Amino acid sequence: MDVYKIRGGNRLQGTIKVSGAKNSAVALIPASILANSPVTIEGLPEISDVLTLQSLLEEIGGIVNFHEGTMTIDPSEMIAMPLPNGDVKKLRASYYLMGAMLGKFKKAVIGLPGGCHLGPRPIDQHIKGFEALGAKVTNEHGAIYLRADELRGAKIYLDVVSVGATINIMLAAVLAKGQTIIENAAKEPEIIDVATLLTNMGAKIKGAGTNVIRIDGVDELHGTNHTIIPDRIEAGTFMIMAAVAGNGVIIDNVIPFHVEALTAKLREMGVNVVEGEEQIYIPKTDKLHAVDVKTLVYPGFPTDLQQPFSVLLTQAAGSSIITDTVYSARFKQIDELRRMNADGRVEGRSVILTGPTPLQAATVRATDLRAGAALVIAGLIAEGETEVQEIQHIERGYSSLIQKLRGIGADISKVPVPEKAAVNK
Ligand code: EPU
Repeated sequence: MDVYKIRGGNRLQGTIKVSGAKNSAVALIPASILANSPVTIEGLPEISDVLTLQSLLEEIGGIVNFHEGTMTIDPSEMIAMPLPNGDVKKLRASYYLMGAMLGKFKKAVIGLPGGCHLGPRPIDQHIKGFEALGAKVTNEHGAIYLRADELRGAKIYLDVVSVGATINIMLAAVLAKGQTIIENAAKEPEIIDVATLLTNMGAKIKGAGTNVIRIDGVDELHGTNHTIIPDRIEAGTFMIMAAVAGNGVIIDNVIPFHVEALTAKLREMGVNVVEGEEQIYIPKTDKLHAVDVKTLVYPGFPTDLQQPFSVLLTQAAGSSIITDTVYSARFKQIDELRRMNADGRVEGRSVILTGPTPLQAATVRATDLRAGAALVIAGLIAEGETEVQEIQHIERGYSSLIQKLRGIGADISKVPVPEKAAVNK
């Protein structure tokens, strides 16, 4: 098992490039199942979630070629192979196989998904959508069975604004008969990206990016070429690094509009954020001020950046409160940051951080993807050498992180550690 070793204290300087969006990629790849000829997606991040989906598509008969960020998927020989176990448990987004396979084959068997443990993550709204379209859905021994004689468009009101349910219902509805209307839909940029791909495949979708999406079912979908949007969460992670450890960093391949909530908070803290067309420049910051943050669905402050942001707040003068309204247990980074001398206290859905506190190196554990990103940031500013364990969580979502950070001056490396030597389990 590998670990990251980070020697803190280097000031980061130069240009760091953002990869394609993980949370788009994990939906775009399953969406290709719906086509009847090859789909090519360019700019995909080289992360383990993408590789896992590649092997899942191969398992159901897809011919997939993935080279330097470009994936071509030929779905013409795919079959409705049941996937009750195995790789589906490695990632949350395997739930998109339900919508895509139900839409294409009118049946699917998919094991309940894995992913980060952030408190309860039900999929009742996905299921409510599938049922409204005419599917019979049962949970048998930990796998979801979906069957339909035919899918018919329906009006679906989401009780919870959910990215996954919005995309999954779109996937199931594009080949259904008649019109589907999703009300109280999520508005994340990744939803627009998936709708763009589906539209280029021949689907009829209106309103993606607003809270009402209308889909007119079509008989079939064809292959196309698509370039993915940049990862706003990776971009945000780099912006936070630049604010806390930078000496002038340019974040390249970012849509500034997608990270506005973070930009506004950084400015409130005293960070100068200079927006270009596809770049953001963050000069060296001298003093950080405490701020309060509440995570919300898009366009609010993203829950995915709350964990990295908590490290920045340990360096701000005064007390800050982060409240996560999206997930009930997404503060596992705080225990690890406390090992590094941070002053943080979790109270229910909030954490109170007081700073500035100089961080000290320690051996810490990436409990989930964004907690891992937070610990890397902490390692960059801590005194001494930090060891981050369980980095497989980080590599589910950050492409070439070591190379990218070394490129702007970080002292970070990936080191193999024999299983027995790993501590702090
Ligand atoms: N929810 C329900 N019922 C449902 C679906 C969701 O109650 O049927 C609740 C969830 O429990 C949560 C809230 O609604 O409290 C939002 O969940 P959502 O469905 O929007 O999240 P998701 O689709 O499971 C995606 C991202 C997450 C990101 C959230 C919120 C993917 C694969 N994952 O998850 O990304 O945190 O949206 O923006 O797209 C990450 O990248 O680190 C990550 C966890």
